[in-house]
Amino acid sequence: MKRNVFAFCSFFELNFDSSAFHDRRFVKVKKVLKSVLVVTFIAGGIIAFASTGTAEANNAVGVAATRTLYRQHCGECHGNDGKSNTKKGRETEASDLTDPGVKGNANDKNIRIITNGKGEMPGFKRKLSPSQIASVARYIKTL
Ligand code: HEC
Repeated sequence: MKRNVFAFCSFFELNFDSSAFHDRRFVKVKKVLKSVLVVTFIAGGIIAFASTGTAEANNAVGVAATRTLYRQHCGECHGNDGKSNTKKGRETEASDLTDPGVKGNANDKNIRIITNGKGEMPGFKRKLSPSQIASVARYIKTL
């Protein structure tokens, strides 16, 4: 019996406590961890890339939709190019939206003007939602 216990212990000593075994195991664990990390990074990269693509696509749709809104609601006076060189623009003396002075307007100010109107310009609070107004305000900065 004693012998058996000794044999049992030495079996474990040999197999689990030998430093060679530990080293091999450690190397193996390190290898596995390394592959897990590599896979995680690649997967993360793919996900990040895919979501950037989606964000860009969404943004592109947003810009296109906003351009359409601008052309529908503002183009008559301010022109598609924002220079207000249109019949109605001249009649109402609409501001040139590409003018550096106007470009320098704070976004909040433009949002207020677009929402409530100013002088000959009508307000758009009944025609456009607050988020559409915010998008249009951002859009005119790009004209
Ligand atoms: C009926 C013509 C008309 C339409 C439509 C119109 N505007 Fe105007 N807009 C004007 C006029 C006129 C002014 C100048 C107001 C003033 O200073 O008395 C003006 C001024 C502005 C200003 C302020 C510029 C400054 O002088 O600081 C912004 C910004 C602006 N418009 C954006 C828009 C946007 C965006 C739309 C569409 C959602 C729009 N406008 C639709 C006529 C118009």
